[in-house]
Amino acid sequence: IKIVTIFIIKILCNLFKRLTTGYQKGEAKELLIFYEKKVMRKEKNMALDTNVGNILTQQINKEFYSAYLYLTFADFYEEQGLKGFANWYVIQSQEELAHARILRRYLLDNDWTPTMEAIAKPDLTFSKVVEPIKAAYEHEQFITASINECYAVAQKANDFRTMQLLDWYVKEQGEEEANASDLLKAVELFGGDPKNLYDLDRENAARVFVAPTMPM
Ligand code: FEO
Repeated sequence: IKIVTIFIIKILCNLFKRLTTGYQKGEAKELLIFYEKKVMRKEKNMALDTNVGNILTQQINKEFYSAYLYLTFADFYEEQGLKGFANWYVIQSQEELAHARILRRYLLDNDWTPTMEAIAKPDLTFSKVVEPIKAAYEHEQFITASINECYAVAQKANDFRTMQLLDWYVKEQGEEEANASDLLKAVELFGGDPKNLYDLDRENAARVFVAPTMPM
């Protein structure tokens, strides 16, 4: 349908060009240029299936939201005097930004310009040390489901290149869920004791950001 639409627009543009021959300036010429540019954009975007482009654009927003969300978790731990836990979530936030940037780069490299939509305000409030960690685990499960949805859309479009990119995200989500789950288990098991909590905090303070080896 897309190819036929572009073909028809091209024919109309050519027809219009013939009809407006002789015009050097004016509305007709501007209109013609506008439609020609539109056709060119459409042709460029055809490198990527529309549904794939749209869902990856939405995923960028989810990754940015994740980064934003984890910063609020870090803020909570700062308030509690647990700078190690705060560090853990600052690093996690950096990871999410990297996830968003990899998707952005991929779209741009495939002639699709993503739109940067508004990022929702995280509205979770916490009173116990374990609560953000539990929320993070649940959030990662949500993101895994979202990546799976992207994969399903790419698969439906026979977009093997995008599926290959998403293979990395599928693996990454496995690690993200495992990290979140390990932290949750440790806090549930040992976090009730101040000395153990202190040790866990020191352990989390050692986490550093390692940039993924994917193009960003
Ligand atoms: Fe980008 Fe934590 O998923």
